[in-house]
Amino acid sequence: MAEKKPVYICRCQEVTREEIRKAIADGARTIKGVKNRTHATMGLCQGRTCRRLIEKMLAEATDIKELKPGTRPPVRTIKIEEVVKGDDA
Ligand code: FES
Repeated sequence: MAEKKPVYICRCQEVTREEIRKAIADGARTIKGVKNRTHATMGLCQGRTCRRLIEKMLAEATDIKELKPGTRPPVRTIKIEEVVKGDDA
């Protein structure tokens, strides 16, 4: 019988579907929980490729249908002197 090939969900960190399933079975209920257990989403693409797949696996395995966003949108840059002066503009 042929050996089963692993299915990589996070290619950057080489995290397999089984590792993600085990993380969820161990109690992971968020992307961060899976990340802490497997290091998925910590690779070169920072989760752009694997995040949606992991979210889908979490939704399928749990009752959670909508996950809290794990990333924040970028904010505008400010100069250090604005911080020092306390300018809000
Ligand atoms: S595929 Fe998971 S971090 Fe790039």
